[in-house]
Amino acid sequence: MLKGKHIILGITGSIAAYKSAVLCRLLVSAGAEVRVIMTPLAKQFITPLTMATLSQHPILVDFFNPENGEWNSHVKLGEWADLYLIAPATANTMAKMATGVADNLLLTTYLSARCAVAVAPAMDLDMYAHTATQRNMEALRQDGVHIIEPGSGFLASGLQGKGRMAEPADIVKAVEALFSEKKKSLEGRHYLVTAGATIEPIDPVRYISNHSSGKMGYAVAEELARRGARVTLVSGRTSLDCPKGVERVDVLSAEDMYKACCEIFPATDGAVMCAAVADYTPQVVAEQKLKKGDGDMSIALKRTHDIAATLGKDKGARLLVGFAMETENEQTNAEDKLRRKNFDFIVLNSLRVEGAGFRGDTNVVSLIDGEGREDLPLMTKGDVAIHIVDKMEKLIKL
Ligand code: PMT
Repeated sequence: MLKGKHIILGITGSIAAYKSAVLCRLLVSAGAEVRVIMTPLAKQFITPLTMATLSQHPILVDFFNPENGEWNSHVKLGEWADLYLIAPATANTMAKMATGVADNLLLTTYLSARCAVAVAPAMDLDMYAHTATQRNMEALRQDGVHIIEPGSGFLASGLQGKGRMAEPADIVKAVEALFSEKKKSLEGRHYLVTAGATIEPIDPVRYISNHSSGKMGYAVAEELARRGARVTLVSGRTSLDCPKGVERVDVLSAEDMYKACCEIFPATDGAVMCAAVADYTPQVVAEQKLKKGDGDMSIALKRTHDIAATLGKDKGARLLVGFAMETENEQTNAEDKLRRKNFDFIVLNSLRVEGAGFRGDTNVVSLIDGEGREDLPLMTKGDVAIHIVDKMEKLIKL
């Protein structure tokens, strides 16, 4: 469940910080990649050396390294994470989170985080029961923060009552439940995804195609399936394995893809059009291999169907997400496609940007809709897929 998950473990100044070592060990053993941020006070309760050893990464405390000026980017950290888990979370830190105070790296990262956030409070029973703390926790709940309830028992003060940070094993269970909740958020829905390159035969030997590997579309299909959706992946040529839980329909030409999509789309809740589809195909496919002559030759091409535009005409309440692969005038061209094809939003990637587009494992995209544009930094295609599906979910809820 936690394999490959990126988790930031935030540690604040509480005696319960000693349990963060076990928590970190359990998360790493479960396959998560863990980065630890500590508040300056947390260092008094557990050493950075312990946490760095267990997390296998240097600990982050300050905005920058005073020795060499290297900047600890809270924005990048917030984007990297699938979950920001603050354990233990003191009353002081929760109060600051509830009011947007950003006076240390742990808090600025909270304000920058786009991922789910969970806190495991730890404090004395009276502090926990105080109306101010309860009010702050309610504000955090309203902000979408998951509270991992503390337990009752002996407290550091010598008193007994509610306020002990939940045991590390229970926190891990709560984290797993959080991920599986997200995983199932699209249960009962059905999406069509197109991916890969189409192949337009010229003769039995030659064809017209493009550089799409299918990686971007497959990542979207995988993310939709992970969240519980039924996914039909109409796939052009690729060497990729079908993602787990996804139904794949293999096609070759733009015409094949058009027919498959027109048949599947009406029964779905929407489509993500990631395939790189040929806009032109040979007018005539030669039955035999074309023989070369002495001179040049030309092949007459005819237009293919614009699949996305066809689906867009009759989409009703279905969600339609498009891609735009551009080499110039990116914004204008993407906006034009957004309107013409009736997309709810379009994912723009440009061949002019390093790490973006065909074949690689990364992409750099902008999500554009009628309201504006969100630019995402370089990230894996898997992470781009998460952003795309997150945006789809927001639109579904509207
Ligand atoms: O597969 P990878 O190697 O991972 O690369 C990913 C990608 C670069 C292919 C992907 O990110 C991408 O940009 N896909 C769309 C490529 C493209 O054909 O863009 P376009 O601007 O030509 O088309 C605009 C939209 O209309 C796309 O959603 C496309 O799927 C759709 N279209 C285009 C032509 C056509 N005849 N029918 C269509 O449905």
